[in-house]
Amino acid sequence: MNLKGRDFLKLLDFSSEEIAYLIDLAADFKSKKKNGIPHRLCEGKNVALIFEKTSTRTRSSFEVAARDLGMGSTYLDPSSSQIGKKESIADTARVLSGIYDGIEYRGYGQSIVEELAQYADVPVWNGLTDEFHPTQILADFLTIKEQFGHLKGINFVYMGDARFNMGNSLMVGCAKMGLNFTACSPKSFFPQKELVDECRKIAAQNGSTVTLCENPDQAVKGANVIYTDIWVSMGEPTEVWAERIEQLGAYQVNSRLMSLAAPDAVFMHCLPAYHDKKTAIGKEMCERFGRDAIEVTDEVFESERSVVFREAENRMHTIKAVMAATLTEIEL
Ligand code: CP
Ligand code: NVA
Repeated sequence: MNLKGRDFLKLLDFSSEEIAYLIDLAADFKSKKKNGIPHRLCEGKNVALIFEKTSTRTRSSFEVAARDLGMGSTYLDPSSSQIGKKESIADTARVLSGIYDGIEYRGYGQSIVEELAQYADVPVWNGLTDEFHPTQILADFLTIKEQFGHLKGINFVYMGDARFNMGNSLMVGCAKMGLNFTACSPKSFFPQKELVDECRKIAAQNGSTVTLCENPDQAVKGANVIYTDIWVSMGEPTEVWAERIEQLGAYQVNSRLMSLAAPDAVFMHCLPAYHDKKTAIGKEMCERFGRDAIEVTDEVFESERSVVFREAENRMHTIKAVMAATLTEIEL
């Protein structure tokens, strides 16, 4: 397997074997890190980390993974770079290609990261766009593999807004890796028909299914994984909160729903999560709409079924795998 020189923009660009390789490579890096075995495979290289939206996990993961691999990194936030305001994406790509060995981009439209990759002559990695969040899915799948020992045949249910980056990427990832994917939400929150059709074809090749379901009780029957995300994503206006609470209120992951899933079911979330009133926005929205939590109850979030913090840790190991595999030739 040789991914050197490749961009990592969306899972649709990668074969099932390549995705499986990246997950296995991440597991190998995780074991090396835990055992104190150095793995400075990219010694002397440097990476640029462009963030047009905020981040805790993704930024930390890229920075720590870069350091573990022997690389330097530069964090470029929206207010301290010229990107988009004084300098086009195409010009930025060519400037950064001369200085860095790889570029991470987190921002708005997928077309921006695709354009960056088109003009850059070093690998470009998608750290989240409105449409896709592919590095998150690698971490999610490493977590599922650790939990169940395999990916194929796992019944995976995504509750909530399935039209955005997490719903889309999880659907593609499940189809590629043979997990049975169900998106559970009101019809207006289902992923785009073209992407669903494409994923159904991919899933059929891998012996799995893609289902769209409006009924939460029905969707979670036999589920091994129940996954959710925040209902209002970065970049969306505050005004959509009222509509989201009204339309997605019945799709909250709570203990009753978990009890309808398979006995071994786990709860997953890309984080950050509004599971209590301990954040400014969580508190404001819980009080405004008379709720104790938003997309997941605190009881489920804090339960033994919840694997969210291992999932978050796995962001670092999987991002390390993506950088190492695209910057060097490695033997696993
Ligand atoms: N899950 C995730 O991407 O988290 P951050 O927004 O903190 O990077
Ligand atoms: N859908 C969320 C994911 C955060 C990791 C957002 O885009 O804000």
